[in-house]
Amino acid sequence: MLFASGMIPVGLYTVSDVTLNALRRREDTMPNIARHRQILATLEPFVAEQTRLHESRQKLWFPSELLADAPQTFRLDPKVGALLVLNTLTEEGLPSFHRLLATNLGESPALVSWTDLWTAEEDRHGAVLHDYLLRVSNVNMVEVERMQYSYLRQGFRPHWQSDPYLLFAYTALQEWATQIAHQNISSELLRGGEPVLEGIVSKIAKEEAKHLAFYRSILAKLLEHDPDDVLAALAEVMMRFHMPGSNIPGFLELTTLSNDTKMFTPYDYAKIVRGTGIFLGLIEIQGLGDEGKRARDAILALPDRLEKIAARKVRFEMPRFPFLIT
Ligand SMILES: [Fe+2]
Ligand SMILES: [Fe+2]
Repeated sequence: MLFASGMIPVGLYTVSDVTLNALRRREDTMPNIARHRQILATLEPFVAEQTRLHESRQKLWFPSELLADAPQTFRLDPKVGALLVLNTLTEEGLPSFHRLLATNLGESPALVSWTDLWTAEEDRHGAVLHDYLLRVSNVNMVEVERMQYSYLRQGFRPHWQSDPYLLFAYTALQEWATQIAHQNISSELLRGGEPVLEGIVSKIAKEEAKHLAFYRSILAKLLEHDPDDVLAALAEVMMRFHMPGSNIPGFLELTTLSNDTKMFTPYDYAKIVRGTGIFLGLIEIQGLGDEGKRARDAILALPDRLEKIAARKVRFEMPRFPFLIT
């Protein structure tokens, strides 16, 4: 899906089929998934070390602790309520994300252990937001749970799910995007107005930042081992990035609201793309073949293109969301 004129679907970042076709490898040079898995398996000690590092920095918290001081019932600003529903549903897609990692990262004990740890941490994100929303009097939770059912029933099966390079590229971008979305609820939208919710979303955002650090470190290590294929994978994911909740009913309206309120905008996505390129040292990287050079150039050019798209003015009217009680 391309950006339609006048509308920026914030959660869907397909840039151009022309660019994609230029990057897409022909059938005979399609990524060798078995080889990618073998290379990933050789990183076992590094993955184990990163998991240990992550756990040593962990500040474990539990939903019931964070909700202890929440009032029993209250109204939320409708825009904040709608955005919280979007972020809750995104988190509640965890069964699909767990399946992606558990079935596609191989049997390496370190990766299996990481997936278990990551799942245990992520499970608290959806739980605390869902339990918080149950206290919000102007959100109809039956409607929200209906959306959640539909979202999980459809599943999340991106075309790239079986290639570990694409998976690590995606998770490195997606954890950062989720971190920004949660953080902006706290800093941009609440501005001290609801301390319990601020505490919840900033705790989640900090954990997403640690997940980002893990996935990005593995991506950087893969890049050292196999630069051309890793850059091709990263370019492919970046050119048509979409948040996992893109099959949530009403997702387009919710992400348009997200753009309007600045919870997450194309500028944020441009920042993620630029920051990932800087972290991976793409300007200085040496030893690339033609495919790697093409991918690197496309990645480095992408933020400016995204910012041009983002600068287009979008007229926005708050839609009638079926889960909001007026
Ligand atoms: Fe999360
Ligand atoms: Fe996360």
